Formats: sequence, C-alpha cells, structure tokens
Amino acid sequence: MSEAERVYIEQWRAKKRKRKSILSNKFRILKYNLYKKFSLGKKNRYPFSFSGWGMQTTFSKPPWLDSNNIDDLNFNIYHEKLKLLVKENKFFLSQFYLPDTNYQKILEELKWRSYIIYNSAIFALNFKKKNTFNMVECGVCDGLTIYYALSASKIKNANFIAFLYDSFDEIKEDYLSPEDIDQLGNYNHLDIEQTKKNLQLYKQNIFFNKGYIPDIFKTGNNPEDISWLHIDLNSSKTTIECLEFFFQKINDSGVIIFDDYGAFKTTKDVVDSFLKDKTGHFFNFPTGQAMFIKKT
Ligand SMILES: C[S@@+](CC[C@H](N)C(=O)[O-])C[C@H]1O[C@@H](n2cnc3c(N)ncnc32)[C@H](O)[C@@H]1O
Repeated sequence: MSEAERVYIEQWRAKKRKRKSILSNKFRILKYNLYKKFSLGKKNRYPFSFSGWGMQTTFSKPPWLDSNNIDDLNFNIYHEKLKLLVKENKFFLSQFYLPDTNYQKILEELKWRSYIIYNSAIFALNFKKKNTFNMVECGVCDGLTIYYALSASKIKNANFIAFLYDSFDEIKEDYLSPEDIDQLGNYNHLDIEQTKKNLQLYKQNIFFNKGYIPDIFKTGNNPEDISWLHIDLNSSKTTIECLEFFFQKINDSGVIIFDDYGAFKTTKDVVDSFLKDKTGHFFNFPTGQAMFIKKT
C-alpha cells in the first residue's frame, strides 16, 4: 500500500468516527473512489520498478536516476530541495497530514506526477512566443504542484508570474455536479497563509486569488495571456468553468495540464467534450494526468 493511500484511508477513518450518521453512504463512495484511484483488489504479481499514486510499472526506471539530461538533473535538484524543506518543516503538506505521515515517502510516490508537471512547464517555456511567462493554477492546496512549475521557470531564467486560484476553504455544493458530491466539505483545513509560507521562495512571482471559482474570476487579478495552465479541482463543474474562462487566453504552444483526467470520469467527459473542436494536441499519462498543447 502506498503512503498516500494509507494516509487517505486513515483520514477517512477519522472522518468516519466523526460522522457516523452518514456512514454507510460515505463508505460506499470511498470504496469506489479508492478502487478507481488505486485499483484496490488487484493482486500484484510482479515486482514493481515504480509504484505510487495510482500508477505502477514493472518496466520503466524513473528517468531521474541515471539521466544526463540537464532538465532531469535540475528536476532532481528541486525535488530533493523540496524534500529538505518538508523535512525542516518549511513546507507543510497539510493535505497528507496524520501524526505519523511519512512525507518523504509520499514525495517519492508522487515523483512521476511532479516530473510531468515540471516538464510541461519546461515545454511551455521552451516554446513560448512572448517575453513574459504567465502561469495559472486552479486548485493550489498547499502549493505542491505549482512548486515544480515555479522551479522550472526559475531555472529557465524566465520573466514569470503565477496567478494562483483557490478558495482555501471547503468545497461547497454549489461548485459540484451531483456526480462529484463525495468531494463536499473537503479541504476545509486549508490556510492560505500556510501556502504562502510554503511558496515564499517565489513570493515575488505570485498573485494569490483567494475565492471560489468561477466567482473569483469577476474580481480576481487575472492574466491577459497564459502559457501554462494547471487545473486540479476535483470537480468537473469548476473544471469546465476554468476552460471556458481561460481557454481563449492561452497562447500558441501554451499548455493545459489536467490532474483529474484519469481519476474522475466526470472530468474526463467534460474535458473531452470541450476540446473536441479545439486545435492542438491532446494526450494523457499513466499517472491520470493529461495535457493539451494549443495551436492557434
Ligand atoms: C486536489 S487539490 C489541489 C492539489 C494541488 N494542485 C497539488 O497537487 O498540490 C484541489 C484544490 O481545489 C480547490 N477547489 C476546489 N473547488 C474549488 C472552487 N470552486 N474554487 C476554488 N478552489 C477550489 C480546493 O480548495 C483544493 O485546494
């Protein structure tokens, strides 16, 4: 069992003890989600060369172990730096909190996902047509994913700004489709000040837009154009709101990364339907992420 999986199960058990009245329904939903996300119930018959966050492989060796590629080497430096920040309590991963969480193990388990985030930003940086590099993240949480994209921008000496959107509060019913209702109340523990502390290395390059999507789009500090957009909201309803608001602002060769594409069928459906008449290249990863490169 991965560490992230163990933490989620423990967190769910704690929640269960608190909310006994809705127990049976929640259990059914959790079991279903865990099954989807981690393929519980399958017997592992082979020794895995990589296993984590819903992705297991017996074949590929993580590319950062024996690579001479400069981007791989830099990725590894930033990854190790993050592990150190977490170890020294300078970066708190509240979403994985339990008194005995092994955060180092979780960061290793999430490495493929982080590697894809980092490289999606490197791609957008290499092919950008403008001097400025505007990044957007919808669904920031503790700042884990944006840390990798910000680090990629830093290493490329880009003139970069990140526009970060999150309620930093619980997910409310108004922002969920009925199919995603199991997400209701999640992330009520978030504190924007903690995320700011986590990302203080990059504070000069960040605008925080705290509020619920899509309402925050009316009052927020929104970019004119975008080279890199990451959507990770655990909600198909707000995923589509982001696409409708931001898509026309994406530059030629700009990218959109979807975190939930493989894990949430509802999100996959709305993304597929939105992109079907758009020009560009779309592909998805075994981590459950997907990427669209826009061609104007
Ligand atoms: C899965 S977490 C994001 C994780 C983050 N990208 C990472 O990997 O570190 C989902 C985030 O979406 C935010 N969120 C969900 N619905 C939202 C909405 N309607 N408006 C703003 N934020 C929302 C939650 O507060 C939570 O921080």
